[in-house]
Amino acid sequence: MAIKDRILTGDRPTGNLHIGHYFGSLKNRVELQDKYETFIEVADVQALTDNFNNPEKVQRNVKEIVIDQLSIGIDPKKATIFIQSMIPEIAELTVFYSNLVTIARLERNPTVKTEIAQKRHIFGESVTYGFLGYPISQAADITAFKGTIIPVGEDQLPLIEQCREIVKKFNTIYGETLYMPKAYLSTNKRIKGLDGNEKMGKSLGNAIYLKDSDDEINKKVMSAVTDPKRIRKDDLGNPDVCMVAYYHKLFSKNSLDNICAECRGGKRGCVACKKELIANIIDHFKPIREKRKFYEENLELVDKILSEGTKKARITASETMKDVKKAMKIDYKI
Ligand code: TRP
Repeated sequence: MAIKDRILTGDRPTGNLHIGHYFGSLKNRVELQDKYETFIEVADVQALTDNFNNPEKVQRNVKEIVIDQLSIGIDPKKATIFIQSMIPEIAELTVFYSNLVTIARLERNPTVKTEIAQKRHIFGESVTYGFLGYPISQAADITAFKGTIIPVGEDQLPLIEQCREIVKKFNTIYGETLYMPKAYLSTNKRIKGLDGNEKMGKSLGNAIYLKDSDDEINKKVMSAVTDPKRIRKDDLGNPDVCMVAYYHKLFSKNSLDNICAECRGGKRGCVACKKELIANIIDHFKPIREKRKFYEENLELVDKILSEGTKKARITASETMKDVKKAMKIDYKI
């Protein structure tokens, strides 16, 4: 089946987006919306699989995540932004697809396996049916909207693989109905945290958020880990082990060679170096923060974008539902 490629991606509304997301995937998303029809899901149902006991958190973050996206340049004229729980077809598809996936296969999914190990404090000894099965629900997210290109980070590859298996099995048993998705790996690598940790993450407390104020950015960068061997300004520095130099690579491209040379030569103090980085980060995010402010002051516009996006998404999902029910011989004409 040849159709025009379509982007489908989603975010769990569990927290604000940070510069790890920004350089890792969001910038890419903004570029892709010019090339392909784009659907972006606010995955509130998925967020509830491991936050079922904290619905306020999910509720609070739905609009936050939409404002984050709009402020970085996702254009509601090009991209359809919608809320997962408002598309009942996703839940229906999840039920149908669950016949096509074994428990053993779900338990083998490396992403789910890692997450279960990390979430013992939530699940205790035995994980919920809902969480174990969220890859099935994610396959419903993707196929309901005929997503063929799925921009994700590396950790999501096993989920896309699982979705592909479901599509293959469905089409083999019931006839060609669903579109085969492909993961689109962002070429940007993972962004390290302020503390030098390989991952920037909310739970790690080492992230700079897109919505951070000047003051917060200032505090965070001042606390970033630098070359531990460098004590005095004229000590020769090693930018390769310094998080400030690491972020200069992202925010100070034009002066990077100079910054590194001065650091190696002991001609640049860490405090001045941090101040320069702070100014560049603030400068870089200025237009993004202005846009954020605009949407925060016009929340009814955010509602309108979500409502129109969800309406449009629902039309596509109901078309898929029709095809699926027909293929599964449950399209009763009564
Ligand atoms: N699981 C994804 C994450 O944690 C979010 C997500 C939900 C998603 N549905 C999706 C990603 C569909 C891609 C396609 O980041």
